[in-house]
Amino acid sequence: MADKKKHVRQINGRFPKPPFWMTSLFLIFLCLSTLVFAAVLRSRTAFSKEPRIHLIQDMDNQIKSKTQHTSEVFADGRASRPKVLGTVARGRLEADDHLYRGFSSSFNTTSGKFEATFIDGIPVKLDEALLKRGQAKFNTNCMPCHGYDGHGNGPVAGRASELQNNGVAGMSWVPPTNLVDPTIVARPDGHIYNTIVNGIRNMGAYGSSIQDPTDRWAIVAYVRALQTSATGTKPAVAQNSEK
Ligand code: HEC
Repeated sequence: MADKKKHVRQINGRFPKPPFWMTSLFLIFLCLSTLVFAAVLRSRTAFSKEPRIHLIQDMDNQIKSKTQHTSEVFADGRASRPKVLGTVARGRLEADDHLYRGFSSSFNTTSGKFEATFIDGIPVKLDEALLKRGQAKFNTNCMPCHGYDGHGNGPVAGRASELQNNGVAGMSWVPPTNLVDPTIVARPDGHIYNTIVNGIRNMGAYGSSIQDPTDRWAIVAYVRALQTSATGTKPAVAQNSEK
């Protein structure tokens, strides 16, 4: 009887039905195999305190010194190395004292101190475009205190005097200098440049917000133009352009 059945199935070109254990094992594996994908999906979306599984390490994880940590390699035990004295970043030598600083410094052996000499003259091409640029930069950065015309009556100055006049307790205020005052007219160009970069007395530094030396010199040129128009004396701007 069994032989006959087998014979019939072979004729129909079918394989015999697999045994029950094989089918169930196959089904079990099928179910288990989805678990791998489920686990991957879960770990890709779920939060974990453990670091990610990182199959290809490249050089991501290796022995290294971290900032502000200690290191046994160096005698002083510091992982962060101090800058080597006199190091200059490539392209940042800024050797031109006049252009970059507005003053030159020399060492006075008698006093044992460095002394600054402010340089006169504007070391960039002085033309209408530069003055326009200076005007825009001045109106953005300096006008709030020194005013559009440089007389020191900008909106910040106005508000501060208002508060002071109304007797706000303990309020004292150093008013912005009148930039067309003869004292400032007499300052070398490099002095005004340095005031922009490093600030002066109660005025803060603007070097970090006006980083391009040409922009700074443009402002100096524009301050000179304001002085010329306010005082009507010697054409300081034209005078500077001849230097
Ligand atoms: C937040 C207000 C404020 C801004 C903005 C400001 N200044 Fe001043 N400036 C002052 C004050 C205040 C003084 C006077 C400081 C003192 O005498 O202690 C001063 C002084 C000066 C002086 C006179 C320095 C000297 O030789 O005695 C110059 C020049 C000057 N500022 C230029 C500028 C320029 C250029 C800008 C724009 C880049 C500018 N300031 C932006 C407040 C300001």
